Amino acid sequence: MSVPTGGAFPQLPPGFRFGTSTAAYQIEGAAGEDGRGPSIWDTFSHAPGRVKDGATGDVACDHYHRYAEDIALMRDLGVGGYRFSISWPRVLPKGRGTPNQQGLDFYDRLLDGLLEAGIAPMVTLYHWDLPQALEDDGGWLNRDTVEAFAEYAALVGERYADRVEHWVPVNEPNVATFNGYALGQHAPGRKLMFDAFPVAHHLLLGHGRAAIELRRAGAESVGCANNHSPMWPASDDPADVGITKLFDALWNGLFTEAMLLGRYPRDIMPLLEDAIQDGDMVTIRQPVDFYGVNYYNPLRVAANLDEEDENPFEFVDLVGYDKTDFGWPVVPDSLREWLIILRARYRAALPPIMITESGCSYGMGPDADGVVDDQPRIDYLDSHLRAVATAIAQGVDVRGYYTWSLMDNFEWAEGFSQRFGLVHVDYDTLERTPKRSFQWFAEMIKAQGHAA
Ligand code: NOJ
Repeated sequence: MSVPTGGAFPQLPPGFRFGTSTAAYQIEGAAGEDGRGPSIWDTFSHAPGRVKDGATGDVACDHYHRYAEDIALMRDLGVGGYRFSISWPRVLPKGRGTPNQQGLDFYDRLLDGLLEAGIAPMVTLYHWDLPQALEDDGGWLNRDTVEAFAEYAALVGERYADRVEHWVPVNEPNVATFNGYALGQHAPGRKLMFDAFPVAHHLLLGHGRAAIELRRAGAESVGCANNHSPMWPASDDPADVGITKLFDALWNGLFTEAMLLGRYPRDIMPLLEDAIQDGDMVTIRQPVDFYGVNYYNPLRVAANLDEEDENPFEFVDLVGYDKTDFGWPVVPDSLREWLIILRARYRAALPPIMITESGCSYGMGPDADGVVDDQPRIDYLDSHLRAVATAIAQGVDVRGYYTWSLMDNFEWAEGFSQRFGLVHVDYDTLERTPKRSFQWFAEMIKAQGHAA
């Protein structure tokens, strides 16, 4: 059974959590204010040629100053949950050592404002903004970064655990490893290819150490937010099928198996074994209270026949599907497919699932009447929520859906050119305009009869 389109919108189970997501570097701005230290994304975005149009997160959506307005928007939206990240260099400017009180105070204000608005916070600790001081010592290639991360987790856990519903230690460790350290498209821009694997192991250790520290500080729910794409081979040629399996192990398998089963997929073990020390896999395999899935689209994979190229993978266009303005194919049924695969692969080891990110980039802005008519985003959300409902009907335990993103923001190497928000942001005036999809999402939540 694939995802039915049209017809009455399915009723999601009682208590299903509707939310929306952001990340610190993408929205906060105030990069040089109130004692915040530099992160690898400040360095990367200020280096010429790294980010489209030379964009930086110096100001971004100015959420640091406008957080109260943004909370009010979320109250109008009617979401029961909000996922945001703490900027590590805002609270620990050098990554470790003396905390920055003004930075800590900001997150107190944000958390208190959310709770007053009846919105439960889900907090990510690492959404890619590593303090530059730690990168100067090797960043995630250096095992010492794991201990700095554990200290940071203890600090924020002790300070905020009484007000946070769910914690996510590391956002998308696969993207951080491959885009940041293997391919160099993201900060810190290293192009280590297969030598980047210690980064994966250290991020996973960071996940485990942070989970321990957060729980010690009283956290009740610690999960993850892993990026997943079903992998479709470009043909039935054994070369394509084989390389797709390998890429699936790297992208989808490595982090999940380590977190849930305490081991690495056998095929890629040789790439990781030098980094592993006694006890590491036990540290990584901490109980997870929910399994967060960030889903965007499936990938079609082929063997790269150019032997001069170190990268053995080639990604092939998904012909026949609508594309977002980012060029990403819109395939709602592949979200259902992924949820079914997760349950089949991990069975009893899989905790309840949360969709920690799901969304799409469409560039339209306000028309002459100030209306942002983003019907394709409404269609995207409608069809992906139906996919979730179908997966639930097929026995997968999904407890929530957080859209990416509350508002348009700094889309990493794409700068401000890709707009994922339910709220339009004018980057000259910083004015926020809820789009039609915002209204649609608000009405859908109301119709479901449970914002919380
Ligand atoms: C996942 C990342 O967590 C988020 O930061 C990013 O903006 C979205 N994908 C869209 O690319």
